[in-house]
Amino acid sequence: MTRPSDPSDPPPPVDVVVVGGINQDVFVHVDRRPGPGETVVGRGPRTGNGGKGANMAVAAARAGAATAMCGAVGDDGAGREQLTALTGAGVDVAHVVTRAGLGTGVALISITPDGENAIVVGPGANASLAHDDVVAASAGARVVLAQTEVGAEPVVWAAEAAAASGARLVLSTAPVVPLPAAVLEAADPLVVNASEAIEVLHGPGAAAEPGSAVPSAADLVRHTGARSVVVTLGGAGADVADRHGSTRVPAPEVQVVDTTGAGDVFAGALAARLAGPDSTLMGAAAAALAAASESVTRLGAR
Ligand code: RIB
Repeated sequence: MTRPSDPSDPPPPVDVVVVGGINQDVFVHVDRRPGPGETVVGRGPRTGNGGKGANMAVAAARAGAATAMCGAVGDDGAGREQLTALTGAGVDVAHVVTRAGLGTGVALISITPDGENAIVVGPGANASLAHDDVVAASAGARVVLAQTEVGAEPVVWAAEAAAASGARLVLSTAPVVPLPAAVLEAADPLVVNASEAIEVLHGPGAAAEPGSAVPSAADLVRHTGARSVVVTLGGAGADVADRHGSTRVPAPEVQVVDTTGAGDVFAGALAARLAGPDSTLMGAAAAALAAASESVTRLGAR
């Protein structure tokens, strides 16, 4: 039998807390992207709810995890819209702070006919997360999923909070920013896509160099000291490694419409699985690939 909740009751346990970015997305479909100094007229715009962290939180909640978001929005219409969307998706937003005088983050997304995206983010309030915001949000979570769109410092605080409480740290370096070695070493797993994998190994900007080979997850375990690493490879699945070995997890074949947010769906669904009982990293990666593959068959980041 349930009883009405009492304000003095402790908060219900959280499976996954996501520390990461919240944005309003603006999409334009283009036949090709402009070069420097060039203007290209595409089709659109279309707006949507996004931010890599927020997308991850929605994916984790949809995968059945009790999920809380830690992030920041501006005191504006876009911020209120993001809060409404997160709440509607079942994400606890008690640790999303609204910053007066700052705008909600915006992502400008161009999509080419092959479904591939290129994104520029204006972070706005995302860059304003404070230490206490992160520590309070992370308390009691089974999995802390930290994402670098809020900058390096909040990710370091999230990693410290996870270590202090015994939570599992899942780390998404999208985008790649310099992080202390201890944070990378605590990641279980570090989740990167192919270009992020190159940048983690060779430094920011390296992915733009022609001919850069994608390192394996095992290479990144050796290089970073992470407890485990997942390299997502789009339709080719995911390369998964820990300190004992590695394996390739295949992705289901689907018709790609828009890849925006697929990596976020993967990370959120992965974290949800890892927060559950008896889950292996390989099994969690397979479930996350199924969720991400489904997401690319539709428009939008979620
Ligand atoms: O990964 C997709 C997301 O990246 C978009 O929702 C956009 O907001 C950017 O953060």
